[in-house]
Amino acid sequence: MGPGDLMDVIESIRGEALDTTSARVLVGPGDDAGVYLIGDTAIVETVDFITPLVNDPFTFGEISAANSLSDVYAMGGRPIAALAIAAFPSCTYKTEVLKEILQGALRTMKRAGVVLMGGHSLDDAELKFGLSVTGTVDKDKILRAGGAKEGDVLILTKPIGVGILTTALKGGTFGDEKIEEAVKWMRTLNAGASELALKAGASACTDVTGFGLLGHAYNMVRDSQIDFVIYADAVPLLDNVMELAEDGMCPGGAYKNLKYMSDKAVFSGAVNMQERLILADPQTSGGLLMAVKEANIEVFRASGAYHKVIGKVVNGSGKIAVEKKK
Ligand code: CO
Ligand code: CO
Repeated sequence: MGPGDLMDVIESIRGEALDTTSARVLVGPGDDAGVYLIGDTAIVETVDFITPLVNDPFTFGEISAANSLSDVYAMGGRPIAALAIAAFPSCTYKTEVLKEILQGALRTMKRAGVVLMGGHSLDDAELKFGLSVTGTVDKDKILRAGGAKEGDVLILTKPIGVGILTTALKGGTFGDEKIEEAVKWMRTLNAGASELALKAGASACTDVTGFGLLGHAYNMVRDSQIDFVIYADAVPLLDNVMELAEDGMCPGGAYKNLKYMSDKAVFSGAVNMQERLILADPQTSGGLLMAVKEANIEVFRASGAYHKVIGKVVNGSGKIAVEKKK
């Protein structure tokens, strides 16, 4: 889940149609996933499905599954079971394609220790695939999107630029081999990053997906008394992303996301338009963005896991300041 059009609608009918006041709803709409308490067990529930962004069906299945599982990890939870959701144009594709997608998803699920409980498909003009995921989380260690503390540093666990690279791939200016690095990252589960977030006592955490780094960062500060300062030159990029952005290869989603941020982000003049678009580039199966005490960066350093410190948390009014470090 994420801050999207549907989430805005859910937000608008909150109160009249939703009973999220129950003490059993530990996390309601607006976060990466919902958390519901059954007895002493906190259940994490989420759903996500996407359109193909790579040509190979098996790889698409692997990526889509990692993307769907990510929201459970973003809550500090562990996924346990999932249902598959498929919209399938049966006139355009052979059933074999759907089988390959599912096999790819199963490979990712196996790596995550998640079982497939079933699924549902329907005929549609455009192919879509994803999972509805159930997980569990320690009710005292839920990683919410909000709650970052002044003085914390911001850590990102994957480089960005997937939307720009897959746009170049779709445009035919780019071969499959050039997005191998992006595919490797999209396949990567956020399980390890989630464990480190818990170990480092992260005060807040989310995963970076369709709304881009800036949009998801904003979801962490909205309606709060803090701001995030993000250093554009400290944000890690996948290979070729800057060059492609300079060639105008940005997806429509990046422009849409940047427009949405126009009254929520304050950009230093040193951050040019390409850099702004990259920070707004929609990601699929992106990394975790979290706030941790500066001293606890050590947990990440000691682990050897990929991570970059991209900014800090300051007192403020729920905005994102984008600057340059150098
Ligand atoms: Co999501
Ligand atoms: Co999310």
